[in-house]
Amino acid sequence: MKDVYILGIESSCDETSVSIVKNGTEEIATVISSQIDIHKDFGGVVPEIASRHHVKNITIVLEECLQKANMKMEDVDAIAITYGPGLIGSLLIGLEAAKTLSFIYNKPLIPVHHIAGHIYANSLVKELQFPLLAVVVSGGHTELIEMDKHYSFKKIGGTLDDAIGECYDKVARVIGLEYPGGPKLDKLASEGKDTYKLPIPLRDDSYNFSFSGLKSAVINLAHNEEQRGNEINKADLATSFQKVAIESITSKVRKAIEQNNIKNVVIAGGVAANNGLRTAMKELTDQLGVELSIPPMKYCTDNGTMIAAAGYYAYLDGRRADLSLNSKSQDILK
Ligand code: KG4
Ligand code: ZN
Repeated sequence: MKDVYILGIESSCDETSVSIVKNGTEEIATVISSQIDIHKDFGGVVPEIASRHHVKNITIVLEECLQKANMKMEDVDAIAITYGPGLIGSLLIGLEAAKTLSFIYNKPLIPVHHIAGHIYANSLVKELQFPLLAVVVSGGHTELIEMDKHYSFKKIGGTLDDAIGECYDKVARVIGLEYPGGPKLDKLASEGKDTYKLPIPLRDDSYNFSFSGLKSAVINLAHNEEQRGNEINKADLATSFQKVAIESITSKVRKAIEQNNIKNVVIAGGVAANNGLRTAMKELTDQLGVELSIPPMKYCTDNGTMIAAAGYYAYLDGRRADLSLNSKSQDILK
């Protein structure tokens, strides 16, 4: 079969990224322009500022990627674009760029759901095996997705309130860590002891999660200690929090593996970078004799490579969009 080169564009939040991937598995070139330093002072991503920076960056990032790949737009077979979910103003910038390229160069436009991208970041590492369970853990999502073949997604569980990354960022802020606090909290957790008692959320038979109660418990604990004039031990609180947060994920993942004959577990999304989660998932899958895929750190946060990789399988599945494609801030993966 002829080689297929997909150009992937990602702009759903605060990263502007373009990448070219060959046959869904081989990264040819990637350029990522991150705005983390710009939003740090605000304690979170400011949507309007993010959109303006995407506008400024998109053509530069695209040109740099083509240059790095030593390719021209004519060499690309199709354009994959994150149409959603995400920040609407940010999504629209990538989408308009993708549509323009598709129109000018007469290339198929492939709509890619952002979470499909995070899942397919794993296919850049090793071949996916089915039935597969994707543990999607990011700033906006906490979901269990079952796949029995390529590009076929069935959500079997998800968070009823906050996403795990969002919870990490809020707890990190309470502890006094700078945005984005998730990675810093993860590091601190490796330095403390599990001394604070926190409630394990949603211990039920479903595959669902809940993180708002855990978040409130940490906020209340810190507040009560402050009122009593006690200083909290930040490292110990980080360790105690991380233990409960991860346990609430692994207990549901264990159930999903056992009840659905899963062969391959993949971790997807920004929180896949979490060291505690990586270790716990490795232990669990070793114990159950299941293959585990974890993307390297560079593919965990938002990037165009994962969109191009997912775009390849969407392309093989016959998915195409026309120029009426619109961005969606919310959308179910299907
Ligand atoms: O997937 P992502 O880049 O953006 C979304 O699509 O949401 O995920 C970003 C989230 C942030 O909440 C960030 O704090 C969290 O992933 N994160 C982590 C770690 N690295 C990133 N959370 C916990 N531990 C980490 N090591
Ligand atoms: Zn993401």
